[in-house]
Amino acid sequence: MGKHRVNKKKPKRKGETITVGKAESVPPGRGATVKLKDGTEVALFNVGGHFHAVENFCPHKSYPLADSRLYGHIVECDLHSWRFDVRTGECFTKKSCSIESYEVAVEEGWIKLTV
Ligand code: FES
Repeated sequence: MGKHRVNKKKPKRKGETITVGKAESVPPGRGATVKLKDGTEVALFNVGGHFHAVENFCPHKSYPLADSRLYGHIVECDLHSWRFDVRTGECFTKKSCSIESYEVAVEEGWIKLTV
């Protein structure tokens, strides 16, 4: 395992589905921060109308990935360009630094996140 930072705002897995907002509020090619009631958060991305969620955290120096740029299904951290697949959380820059991904569905225009 490589040395990397720990995400203190990573949602705990509960098998719980939460409605987090309207799909139209996140345009294609953009990300958004979703803050959960317990203070944890995820980065939500719209990739051509398909929504994906991963930890809102770059394991390199903790930068929030929701604020970083999206290239197709790849988010590139704004600080030092580490790259992640928003569908799976896989880190392309350093394999041991992959992050968690979360299931997202859209039902009648509402985004549903399962943590
Ligand atoms: S903090 Fe993300 S690449 Fe350095």
